[in-house]
Amino acid sequence: MDGSGAVLYCTIKRASHQQVPNATVSLLQRKPRAGSSREGGREREREREREAGGKTESREDMETWKWLMKVAGTSVILLLAVLKVGLTFWWRPRRIEEHFSKQGIRGPPYRFFIGNVKELVGMMMKASSQPMPDCSHNILPRVLSFYHHWKKIYGCTFLIWFGPTVRLAISDPDLIREILVSKSEFFEKNESHPLVKQLEGDGLLSLKGAKWAHHRRIISPTFHLENLKLMVPAVASSVANMVEKWESMSTSSGDVEVDVSEWFQDLTEDIITRTAFGISYEEGKAIFKLQAQQMVLAAEAFQKVFIPGYRFFPTRRNLYSWKLDRKIKKSLVGLIERRKSKAWEGAEEEVEGGPRDMLGLMIRASTQSSAGVSVNDIVEECKGFFFAGKHSTSNLMTWTAVLLAMHPRWQEAAREEVFRVCGARHPPSKDDVVKLKTLSMIVSEALRLYPPVIAMIRRATADAELGSYKIPRGTEILIPVLALHHDQSIWGNDANEFNPARFAEGLARASKHPFSLVPFGLGVRNCIGQNLAILQAKLALAIILRRFKFRLSPKYQHAPTVLMLLYPQHGAPIVFSRLVNQEAPHDQGSHYGCGSKMAAKV
Ligand code: HEM
Repeated sequence: MDGSGAVLYCTIKRASHQQVPNATVSLLQRKPRAGSSREGGREREREREREAGGKTESREDMETWKWLMKVAGTSVILLLAVLKVGLTFWWRPRRIEEHFSKQGIRGPPYRFFIGNVKELVGMMMKASSQPMPDCSHNILPRVLSFYHHWKKIYGCTFLIWFGPTVRLAISDPDLIREILVSKSEFFEKNESHPLVKQLEGDGLLSLKGAKWAHHRRIISPTFHLENLKLMVPAVASSVANMVEKWESMSTSSGDVEVDVSEWFQDLTEDIITRTAFGISYEEGKAIFKLQAQQMVLAAEAFQKVFIPGYRFFPTRRNLYSWKLDRKIKKSLVGLIERRKSKAWEGAEEEVEGGPRDMLGLMIRASTQSSAGVSVNDIVEECKGFFFAGKHSTSNLMTWTAVLLAMHPRWQEAAREEVFRVCGARHPPSKDDVVKLKTLSMIVSEALRLYPPVIAMIRRATADAELGSYKIPRGTEILIPVLALHHDQSIWGNDANEFNPARFAEGLARASKHPFSLVPFGLGVRNCIGQNLAILQAKLALAIILRRFKFRLSPKYQHAPTVLMLLYPQHGAPIVFSRLVNQEAPHDQGSHYGCGSKMAAKV
């Protein structure tokens, strides 16, 4: 028992000792005594008084006991609360530290209640206060500063405390393969932050077990390469629209400066809408516009201090977000009903031979009665698609464009390949895109150096063995994708250099370990949209490379940072110059900002 418990216990004892003697006296006084009638009358009177007094006293006794019970009850509750706090915030963390330290795993020491959060936030804030010098690709110390710092002290497997929750950071590719592939049944996806959960919905991203497997089976055909190839003309026309807008904005010298991180978001939104909604594109676009607004609200809230339960308060922001949510649901339900009735009328036949969109596949599954797919399931999947697909792909395209602007010789090599493979065909055909090998290498290198998803988290569902380690149930595991991708022991001394040539003989030969490139995750829960993301990035870049040469704007500041995904903290302004007569230029002389320094490196 701790101090406060002992104080409460003494209070109860003292209270009972004060009351019990009075009660005992009153019981002893109740015995009748012999005497005269006058005496007897007085005696009866006294008796009545005593009885009245006794009744009052027994009422007092009752009150006292009630009070005692209340005190005892409250004390027990308080004691239990104190025990729970002690258990959660002190005893359990100590036990876990001890358990891992016996296995040689240590980490920054746990601090009561806050864990390592204070130091962690301090390091992250300091790191993101300055842009990176010389546009270096050694971004780990800036983006995951706490990981970089503690890894130097505690080695590549160590503990970090997020409050009383422990996370075991693991960057050994063999262990990562066990977690995500061979022992994935012991390590499930973690519950998302409530704000993220609100956006990602209850679809593939977060579902578990049989329902997840069922949905994944239904949706998968949308993302098969053969199906995606059918979308190439629509995707190309979205890119062409964007490029035409840039051309119309260009100055008389043919130059235009745009922040690609913003433009690529609009582009990916357009393409995700086609993938998800197909023939219902226009209606789907209006819905995704609403979801984009909701995402802005969530991103704002994400940057503020998190107060549990705050999202349920009727604040102005929350009221607006709920209104958007209702509107999104209502529009989606309406759209689904219209598509269903079209399917009944046979109007969907018109698109036979065309690409299969996610909505159509899910609606078809929902009409096959045993499938168990409800309208609400479809609504949740649509939310998840938008969330998972839009920013991740636009970030990939942004970093690839930035890298090509920094490394003009690779830009030139990619352009030369586009002209060679596609010839006069414009836009590139679906088969052309597959043949663009140099561009594939460039995109892989961009995904290695700047993976949009910089970390994955899993939770042990049971006591499990990982390599030689014993992992207790409930342990969260942090897989720092970014650290794995920048590890010199895996990728060689040039791990922090942009060198797409490392992928010349395929992904498997690019490093010392076959599971060291994991931008889309691994195993059964890997990214369902990876083919779409790569196809889209290659197609967009091929079209841009044909029309423009480009360089970093003098305004560009190299400042990769993380807010859910890896993004450029100060945007990505790039200057595009129209190519004369659709010819690939060979003059690589004029580069601004970091570009001029990086040019010497390629
Ligand atoms: C460059 C672009 C993208 C990157 C880097 C990326 C990355 C990832 C990663 C790392 C995961 C696994 C997360 C984990 O295991 O914890 C994942 C899952 C997922 N991604 Fe992507 N993604 C991208 C594009 C897309 C697109 C375009 C879509 C859909 C249109 C999409 C939909 C999903 C879904 C639904 C899942 C969950 C799959 C499941 O659990 O079955 N992603 N993504």
